[in-house]
Formats: sequence, C-alpha cells, structure tokens
Amino acid sequence: MGTISEAEVVARVDALLGKMSLDEKIGQLTQVGAGPWGPGPEDTIRMGGAGSVLWLNDTKQFNVLQKIAVEESPSKIPLLFALDVIHGYRTIFPVPLAMASSWDPSVAERVQSVAAKEARAAGLHWTFGPMLDIARDARWGRIVEGAGEDPFLGAAMAAAQVRGFQGPSIGSPDHVVACAKHFAGYGAADGGRDYDPVYLPESQLRNVYFPPFEAAVKAGVGTFMSAYMDLNDVPASGNRFLLRDVLRTEWGFEGFVVSDAFAVGNLAIQGFARDGRDAAFRALSAGLNMDMASGTYLQNLAGLVKDGTLKMNEIDAAVRPILAIKVRMGLFEQPYIDEAKLAQVVALPEHRNEARLAAQRSMVLLRNEGRLLPLAKSLKKVAVIGPLADSMEATEGSWMVFNHTPAAVTVLAGLHAKLPGAKVEYAPGPDIQRDIPSFFDTMMPGEKKAPQTPEQAEAAFQTAVATARNAAVVVMVLGENANMAGEAASRASLDLPGRQEELLKAVVALGNPVVLVLLNGRPLSINWAAENVPAILEAWEPGSEGGHAIADILFGDVNPGGKLPVSFPRKGSHAPLYYARNLTHSPESSPMYNPRYWDGLPTPLYPFGFGLSYTTFSIANLKVAAPQVKVGSLVAVTADVTNTGLVVGDEVVQLYIHQKAGSDSRPMRELKGFVRLTLKPGETKTVTFHLGPAELGHWSTNAGKWVQDAEPFDVWVGADSLATLHADLEVVR
Ligand code: NOJ
Repeated sequence: MGTISEAEVVARVDALLGKMSLDEKIGQLTQVGAGPWGPGPEDTIRMGGAGSVLWLNDTKQFNVLQKIAVEESPSKIPLLFALDVIHGYRTIFPVPLAMASSWDPSVAERVQSVAAKEARAAGLHWTFGPMLDIARDARWGRIVEGAGEDPFLGAAMAAAQVRGFQGPSIGSPDHVVACAKHFAGYGAADGGRDYDPVYLPESQLRNVYFPPFEAAVKAGVGTFMSAYMDLNDVPASGNRFLLRDVLRTEWGFEGFVVSDAFAVGNLAIQGFARDGRDAAFRALSAGLNMDMASGTYLQNLAGLVKDGTLKMNEIDAAVRPILAIKVRMGLFEQPYIDEAKLAQVVALPEHRNEARLAAQRSMVLLRNEGRLLPLAKSLKKVAVIGPLADSMEATEGSWMVFNHTPAAVTVLAGLHAKLPGAKVEYAPGPDIQRDIPSFFDTMMPGEKKAPQTPEQAEAAFQTAVATARNAAVVVMVLGENANMAGEAASRASLDLPGRQEELLKAVVALGNPVVLVLLNGRPLSINWAAENVPAILEAWEPGSEGGHAIADILFGDVNPGGKLPVSFPRKGSHAPLYYARNLTHSPESSPMYNPRYWDGLPTPLYPFGFGLSYTTFSIANLKVAAPQVKVGSLVAVTADVTNTGLVVGDEVVQLYIHQKAGSDSRPMRELKGFVRLTLKPGETKTVTFHLGPAELGHWSTNAGKWVQDAEPFDVWVGADSLATLHADLEVVR
C-alpha cells in the first residue's frame, strides 16, 4: 500500500473494468447517502449501484455495508466511505480559519494527519477537505472553513492539509484521501449569501481563487469537489473550463471529481440542463466523475450510453481514477476495519497535545492596552461572563462530523484548571441564537434548549453584571455559536449577536479590568470593543483543548503569535473587504482616496496579517540582493527581525510586493512570502525570501495568459499588511 507502482494500478484497473457491466460502472460513479433521513443504501450496494457512501459515521455499519459490497455485489468492488472531517474526527482542532491564523503550515499538516488517523481508524477512507475557497466576504458563513482572503497563504495551507490528510502518498497507512473543494469560486457568492451565483473574471480566478487548488494538485490531492453555484453563468458542476481545461489539461490532475451534494441534479434547477438526463450528460462530459447523492447518474447514464449519446470509453475514463484510488488505498486487500482500533487511536494523549498546541498557535492578540495581559496567576477572584464561556459546541466550532458529541475544554473549565486556588465565578448572560434556524441544527445531537423569554434574558443579564461587579478581573467570552458560521450560516451584519455588546458595555462600565475572548468563525465588527476593552484575544473556534489553550495565553504560559488571515471590516456592509485591492487614487496625496464612504472609515478595523505579542519586535535591514532581476530568475530578499522585549515570542515576518506598471493594473499589495519564527529576548534572526517568476508574474487580462512584466516593483517586509519597511526592485529582460 502506498508504494504500489503506477503500472500495477493501471493493470489492475483495466482488469476490473474488463469484467464490469455498464450498470456496475455507473455504480462506481455514484455516491449514496446513508444518513438517517432516507432508506438505507443496502439494496443499491448489493446490485452494484454505489461506489461510495457518505454521511455515515458508524464503524460497525461500515463493515456491514462493505460486506454487502465485497461479497454480494456483482464485481465485489469495495466501497469508499467518505465524510466531512474538516478539523478533527474525535479530537477536534481549531477550525481551518484559525489554523490559517497560525501562519504555520506545519500545524495544519500535523493536525490533519491526526484527524486522518482517527477517521481511518473509524473506517473512513476519504474526507471532504480541505476547503480551499478564498473568502473575502466575512458575511459568507463558510469563511470559517477556509484559510481566509489570501491566495498565497491559502496555497500554503492547502498543500499542508493535503499532505496531512494523505501522508506521503495515497494509500499511506493511517491516512485518508483528501478532497480539494469547492472548485471554484464559491467564496465569492454575491452578497456573501450562501449558494448564490458568482461572477469572477478570469484574472481573479487565476490570480486569486485558483492558487490554493493548484497547490493541492501539486501536493498530490486525490480528489476534487465541484462547487454548487454558477460560475459566470455556468454551474461549476457542469463546467468544462474548470473540470477539464484547467484542472486536467493545464494542471495535470489525475484523480477524480465528485460533485457537491445533489449538484448534478441541481443542474436542471439552475436553468442549465433540460432534465436529469441532460444533467447527467453535461456533468459527465464536463469532467465530473462521481455524482454525490443526487442519483442522476444512476438513473440516466445507462440510457445515454445505450442510445449512443455517450460512448463506453467516456464512462470507462470516468470510472478509472475512482478504481485507481481504491486500489491505491488497499481496499481490495483490506476492505474491513478493525472495530477495536478507534478506541485505541482516539485515546492517544498526543492527539490532545496537538490540539492544545494548534489552538495556542492559532490565537491572535488584537489588543493589550497597558499590558493587561498576561494576567497574574495569583488572582483570587475572576468572573467569567458570556454565553460561550462554558459552551462545548462553540469551543469546538462549526462542521462537526455526524453524530459527534462535543467534549471540549471550555474557557470556564480551562480557567478553573489554570487557577485551582482562585474563586472563578461564572454567569452566561442572555442566550444568543440565530434569527432564522439552520436546517443543520436538527442534525446535532443533544436536546435543544427552549429560547429564553425576554424576562429570563433580562434576569440573566443582571446576574452577569452582578457577577462581574466584585471580580479582580472579568473574562468575557463572546462571539458566535457554532451554528452561526459554516454552511447555510451567512449573515448580513457582523455585529456580536444578541445582547452581547450591551452586556460588554455594562460590564466595562463597572470599571474592573476586562479581557474579551472571542469565539467566532468569521471576522466580527467589534468597533466598540476595539476602543474600550483593554485586552482582546481572537481565539476563533479553537477545538477540544480550546479552554486550556486560552488559559495558557491569558496567564502567560504561552505568548500569542497568530496573525489574522482576513481583514476585519468595521461593518458587515463593508464586505467584501481585503487588502490586495487595486488603486484608483493615491492614498498619500489624493483628496479623493479616503472618503470612499462618507459614513465611516472604509479601512479594516484590524488589517490582514495583524496580531500582537507579549513582547515587541523590530524588523530592519531590508535588503534586496540585487536592484534588478531578470525575467525568469530569482532574487533574494532579507531582513533582520529582533525580539526587542522581555519575553520569548513569535513573529510572523511577511513580505508584500506591488507591481508599479505593466500589462495590467496590479493590487496595491500582495503577500509573497512569510515565515513564523520564535525569538528569545534580544535575539536577532535574518529571514530570507526569494522572489521569482511565480511571485512576480501574474495572469494578464490584456495578454490573455501568464506574464512576467519587466517593470519596477515595491517590496515591503513587516509584521502585517501595513508594513512600511520598503525597498525597490526592478524586473528586467
Ligand atoms: C455540502 C457541502 O457544500 C460540502 O462542503 C460537503 O462536503 C457536502 N455537503 C457533503 O457533506
């Protein structure tokens, strides 16, 4: 397994194809749901009508279904079991947006390899991750599942997650097949409304939205998932440009493409295909191998082959990479899972350690006036306030695997553990909830709490204020519930939901020091807090060990070093907001630059790349090795970073460029290098970046192709996207 040669894979796949009927081949192109909603898939599997099963998370049942496939179906081809394992299977890691805040791809790689190990031990072979959609609109709920707004950071996180899930190659023991999704453009939904159409010019697709996907292909990702929505009026799941021209012809992808759930059937709803038959034809011809859950292939492909509309070799070509992955995964040798394995694997203490470390590294210190943080462990009385302070769901965050029971260390539990001798008093304040419930809510285990009456909410508000009154320090844990970000969780406002800001104001008015810990899956408009709350820690949705990691940071056992992978808008209506914009007027000299809105600053509340530390850093001595670099060559850029404070800490040194003229206008800044380093007090390290055609080139609208212009560039190196340390570089022929 894992080392099987390409020639052997091809030979075995050919042998299999040779004995399969048309119906069985179509079965391999069909993924069936085994959720609690519909009839079980047993009969479909028995007749060879399914190649893969999703929405099942039950080790015993995997073996039951697999036995039907390998003993009773005509060609006895094992099933691939697939599930969304997005940020952990049993041990839950920070959500992907938080992982990206670590600016440390090795964190993402390690946690996804633990997620893979647990998922594989449970009997899964394939995860629907990583999600690689660039998201520049904080209203879009699924921003939580990706690496944020930037293609360069996104590409690094994409490759790392693919390596983590899959290991060195497809079929590596204790690993699963990854799925790069949702190809492509899903994050740019109109108005941030989930599933709404997307209009992106080719320059945006290629310069911004594609790079993480291409990085996943280079990292060897086994599968892709096509997106739901229309991209420039062509549904992504019937989009030949995406699925054939770019993915296979240009990038050389040899794995298979699965649709998003029901997306093949949806082609008719989208006003693209005439009916199911046409949908099956257009999806398959566009390059989509596997139909997730719509049954459209199963119902229509045979007829299309029989009447000559599709050729058998087109069906064979679609089946081949699916069988190849099954061969590589060793499923024919070992179709079953040892039912005792999961219990041993999930109990491994190193998994919890990874979760704690990942959470520590992904948190971002947004404010620390008067060095309120770190807090002293000698504190005698702490109040912990807020609806998320003891919420395991909010701590683990959105996108749990089916049937997962939350088991996170909450902030309250983390503070109790950190301060065994102190009095830690807790009051949740009023509950928060969505105005319109999510259809996913019904799938979460556990009893649903009845909504509070206004009187109950008011009583909870008053209790919370009273609890905060006599505390030496108040830790407020505010943000969003797990169901407020994720799929079908877009929102128009980015304000703290419910009465949270009102409670924050009431508590701050008491005059005790207040630390705000945010648990959330998207940037929030925390304008009042940013001016009035002395310390703010963006903890995102930090996972199983979140409460411990937060306590580690609040009490100085760990120095925060994460940086924002997204700009924080001042208002929801400012979205989409991102740093890599093209300019019209001069920011320095034009009176027309700044009043881009007359009712408030258009700039982010916190810029991309921003994050504080308990120590301070200076970045100096920026040097470009040569003032000129030839098209196609590399030039080194170096800078010295020094820890100028009193404690050990991490800095993420970031390199940005701007092309000053050329075949097209280019963004005022683009990230093209970053490195996270740990420095002792007084220590200096030199960081080196390389700029070459990959960083200095772009896809040109005017040229209709990739170009590297011989033009002048600005180069900045610094601690966030507002870096001021500058050098010039000229690209010459
Ligand atoms: C729909 C989501 O868009 C996708 O991300 C997910 O993988 C599938 N459902 C399967 O659950």
